[in-house]
Amino acid sequence: MNTSMSLWRQRLYRQFSLMLANQPKLGYYLKPLLHWNKPQWHPDYHSASVIDICWETEQMLSIWLKPAASWPGFTPGQHILVTLLHQGRYISRSFSISSSAALFTQQKQIRISCRIQPQGEFTKALASRITSLTELSISDAMGNFVLAPNVDSKDLKTTVMVAAGSGITPLWSMLSSMRCWTSPIVLFYSVKNAAQAAFLAELKLLAAKQPLFELRLIETDISGRLNLIRDLATKADFSLRQAHYYLCGPAAMSQHCKEQLIQQGVPAGAIHSEQFGFALPAVVGEMKQALILQKGKEILIAAAAGVPLLQVAEEQGLNPRFGCRIGVCFQCVCQKKSGQVVNLRTGQVSGDGPEQIQLCISAAHSNLQIEL
Ligand code: FES
Repeated sequence: MNTSMSLWRQRLYRQFSLMLANQPKLGYYLKPLLHWNKPQWHPDYHSASVIDICWETEQMLSIWLKPAASWPGFTPGQHILVTLLHQGRYISRSFSISSSAALFTQQKQIRISCRIQPQGEFTKALASRITSLTELSISDAMGNFVLAPNVDSKDLKTTVMVAAGSGITPLWSMLSSMRCWTSPIVLFYSVKNAAQAAFLAELKLLAAKQPLFELRLIETDISGRLNLIRDLATKADFSLRQAHYYLCGPAAMSQHCKEQLIQQGVPAGAIHSEQFGFALPAVVGEMKQALILQKGKEILIAAAAGVPLLQVAEEQGLNPRFGCRIGVCFQCVCQKKSGQVVNLRTGQVSGDGPEQIQLCISAAHSNLQIEL
């Protein structure tokens, strides 16, 4: 009853905000006004105090955060967008929450575990500054890579999880949040070698304590790449078509496992995989013209349908503001004066008139005029 009331209220607020400001939250409309005074303010951001840090492996840094009371919580498997002020601009990246639901319920804390990439601007900045940071900005938790409600039902034979590298983080959050085990879960965890396996001690402990949990560590340096179908064939009392699958890791690995499973007759609905950001359409459509107004100048650029306008503008030498590039941080919001755009996340086509758009997830649907 409470949930449906609050959903109802949320919908009402959204409709009200859309009517009044053509934005799903009034805060989006007010953002440009407030930005001059409080540049880090954002309607979807919450501050989170940095409580502790630790290196899980040589490359993976865990950070414990205590989000402000406004943060609404998460479902294990979801991710958040973390934002940092770096060299005068805000940069963002998404990370899965790697802690259990119980840690948040009991201590109001969460943990994120970040693979530090030597080439990655965000993670390099985060690792080098983390000891002096007391706060980070985080978004609401998002994503639907969460356990299906029937995972603990007696009818489901097995849940198969496949993680590669830092893909373990949402899966470990799900596993460490399991309160009642009624069906088996097997985790295939693929890493170069055991030294690179985060949460290995905890996973081994869980396997020792919980008879329904099986850990299969695949060290690719020793045994080569994971071959899911071959490895599952060795499992006694297991039916490929009656299991649910949760895949998290590099896109190529997830895609490969998915194709193999579908070839074996596993229904697509039984395969869940994590994908950060959004997939661009494989085929780029016809060219449109975008007239960009910037600091009193007019610049005419060609915009291929299906390509984010942020990318189009950058490729043609412009330098619009951006943060996450996946439609979450709203740093790329600008004013469309006329023409239609398509939202690449939802597929929705905008109206023809003036409105604010997010450059990183909008593509030209007709000729356009935009003010940066
Ligand atoms: S860059 Fe973050 S919403 Fe566009």
